[in-house]
Amino acid sequence: MRYPLMHGWVQTKRITKICKTRDIVTINGKYPGPVVYAQEDDRVIVAVTNKTPYNATIHWHGVRQRLSCWSDGPSYLTQCPIQPGQSFTYEFTLVQQKGTLFWHAHISWLRGTVHGAIVIYPKTGVPYPFPNPYEEHILILGEYRFNNLVKLEKKVLARGTGAPPADGYTINGRPGPLYNCSANDVYGIDVIPGKTYLLRIINAALNIELFFSIANHKLTIVEADAEYTKPVTVERLMITPGQTINVLVEANQPIARYDMAVGPYVSAQNIPFANISAIAHFHYSGASVTTMALPAPLPVFNDNLAVKNGMDGLKSLNATNLPLEIDTNLFFTIGVNVEACHSSTPNKSCQGPNGGTFAASMNNITFVKPSISLLQAYYDSLHGHYTDDFPSRPLKVYDFVNGAPNNFPNDTQSLNGTRVKVLEYGARVQLILQDTGTVSTDNHPMHLHGYSFYVVGYGTGNYNSRTAKLNLVDPPYMNTIGVPVGGWAAIRFIADNPGVWFMHCHLDLHTTWGLSMAFIVKNGKGPLETLPHPPADLPLC
Ligand code: C2O
Repeated sequence: MRYPLMHGWVQTKRITKICKTRDIVTINGKYPGPVVYAQEDDRVIVAVTNKTPYNATIHWHGVRQRLSCWSDGPSYLTQCPIQPGQSFTYEFTLVQQKGTLFWHAHISWLRGTVHGAIVIYPKTGVPYPFPNPYEEHILILGEYRFNNLVKLEKKVLARGTGAPPADGYTINGRPGPLYNCSANDVYGIDVIPGKTYLLRIINAALNIELFFSIANHKLTIVEADAEYTKPVTVERLMITPGQTINVLVEANQPIARYDMAVGPYVSAQNIPFANISAIAHFHYSGASVTTMALPAPLPVFNDNLAVKNGMDGLKSLNATNLPLEIDTNLFFTIGVNVEACHSSTPNKSCQGPNGGTFAASMNNITFVKPSISLLQAYYDSLHGHYTDDFPSRPLKVYDFVNGAPNNFPNDTQSLNGTRVKVLEYGARVQLILQDTGTVSTDNHPMHLHGYSFYVVGYGTGNYNSRTAKLNLVDPPYMNTIGVPVGGWAAIRFIADNPGVWFMHCHLDLHTTWGLSMAFIVKNGKGPLETLPHPPADLPLC
């Protein structure tokens, strides 16, 4: 066992990108940040020191944090922020985990620039279940904004509106040659004809699901969210924020330069947005650098079918922990809504639709972050910070019309609150996530902390237990699932990791609007079923 030991300095860095110079928040001055390399079952120790004027935390996205909930990182869920000048040491073991994940800030919108890859190799001597690639490359897809991200989130909240579109997308921090002054800000991979490459693709964007393709090359998916899949060959990917997908690409085309392209998937109709993209190069050795690269085709921004077809082929290689029997059935609606301004939002102005303010909810409850960490409140039995009455089903009965689960008036008055759902240790959970499409139908990338879950079902329209076809043989094991437009996803997991675990839409805008909730998973009886004491340097609020 190795002990990767690292120091992360949260610091601002002046950079010039897409013709503008800005101070952005980074780890160690890098955008994207440093890669954490480890091996399965390694202990990872990262000391984080905050040198910025903003509060910070780091989340290890997709790391299951077995008995180490204190190191999970979402602000006000498992820890108070690391305040300016303070430090906190994250410490966890990558129990039975290998593959590509990523880390990111989990406070305000700092994730936009504070993120980096986690690469976990199999144990020494254990091969990949696919032919060994000639080389491996990380591709982090990002969304770049000129705005100060801390201020931008506050502004969006205060105005009760949406967020402006990004100023550009990036591949490994580079937008590609699409803008004035970015002709040389292009990421490239040099390839040798006949060789096969493993690309570790991460969507670290704040608020946008992305299509990815390489001109003239097919992509063979071999891993999703750090779990091996049955190999499936596709023309392009749709990858949601929070997802990580590994693909094999064979350099089997004529010697030339090919584009790798990233463009938006915006399922919500009627939402104006800028059609932006990012370009990188897949460059064959021997090809001239002065020739134009062949363009990579991307679907149109609202191609829901392309997304559905992509998801249908995803199967896990071994579904070893899949619970076949269920004892806890949950049904959560997820959606964006518009609150009338007289509801519990007195400090917001009302510039959203119908003079209201945008909100989002799960089971009609808009999550309100507490003022101390929920985990601390739970652990120390401090009262008044949350209630344990998050409902197992939606509070209101949906009046489903024509398969569209969209039947709320626009000021749906979701209730505001910090409510949690308590699960007994070892509960065998099936959770249906149903998109309500209250204001617009959206593909919501739902992410659960502390667990991976099997995606046993997936469909459009309303979930119907009689007709829904579930895959109980080889469903993919993910940590983030894009719940389809006006549709549903069924996930299963065994609640065997005690702690407080956040579940939320991985579009930060929607998290800001309250599209989130938290589970409390109780301790079991044994020492390996009990959450340990908090670390001594845990930040205080
Ligand atoms: Cu990737 Cu709660 O986050």
